[in-house]
Amino acid sequence: MTQVFDVYARYYDLLYRDKDYASEAGFVAEQLRRHQPAGSRILELGCGTGIHAEYLARKGFHVHGVDLSAEMLVKAEARKASLPPEIAACLSFSQGDVRTVRVGAQFDAVVSLFHVMSYQNSNADLAAAFATAAQHLGPGGVFMFDYWYGPAVLLQKPEVRVKRLGDDQIEVLRIAEPVLRLAENVVDVNYSVIIKTKASCEVRQINETHSMRYLFLPEIPQLASGPEWASCTSTAWLKDVVPTEQDWAGFSVIHRR
Ligand SMILES: C[S@@+](CC[C@H](N)C(=O)[O-])C[C@H]1O[C@@H](n2cnc3c(N)ncnc32)[C@H](O)[C@@H]1O
Repeated sequence: MTQVFDVYARYYDLLYRDKDYASEAGFVAEQLRRHQPAGSRILELGCGTGIHAEYLARKGFHVHGVDLSAEMLVKAEARKASLPPEIAACLSFSQGDVRTVRVGAQFDAVVSLFHVMSYQNSNADLAAAFATAAQHLGPGGVFMFDYWYGPAVLLQKPEVRVKRLGDDQIEVLRIAEPVLRLAENVVDVNYSVIIKTKASCEVRQINETHSMRYLFLPEIPQLASGPEWASCTSTAWLKDVVPTEQDWAGFSVIHRR
């Protein structure tokens, strides 16, 4: 996993430059104010290059981001260094695995965004990530996360996708070829990424597999059935409604007892 994301980090922000991180952070902030009105301290599990963290810091939250990938964290630190000092002061990052990391502090909320929980493929991995969230929350704290939503995955079926992108330095062609592992509720997304450096015309190909666990709503309270957890609500990602087969991502909020 680390290797996959270390390579990925080089073109990650380019790949997702059209992703509306600002609106997504707005949605998360709204959910936080609804579920934990006095909350200001956030632990972000799988923070990547720190874009959600930046937007949340701009909204007045203090965010500590954790990620497995050293290269993603280098980018997150570089982003932090480019921010006005009062925003940068609200951000910190460290390396760790969401299944095992313990940062030695408590937070009002733990958030995990852009399918990080789906990267936890097995029941044991998911349970371990939930335990990490519980360990870092005080009473009444909330754990919020999105994930691939099972009914949409099975009814829409993942498709082969081709994405072309570029900037002044590189051109990237990415082909995604998914394989469903039905018995495990996992999709292996096999990416072939061809990167051309414009100045030297050097061409590199990277092959990587992202294995994504899709979840069904009844699994969420099951995962949060331990005595440390209280209520659980689930909606479609970025919406306030029950997800349908049109919604590729679900979003759940679980309250710590
Ligand atoms: C699709 S990216 C999302 C990054 C970021 N949340 C965003 O929205 O841009 C998934 C991230 O999860 C991280 N990740 C996956 N499994 C992890 C694990 N077990 N522990 C820590 N980070 C993990 C990867 O390194 C990667 O940065």
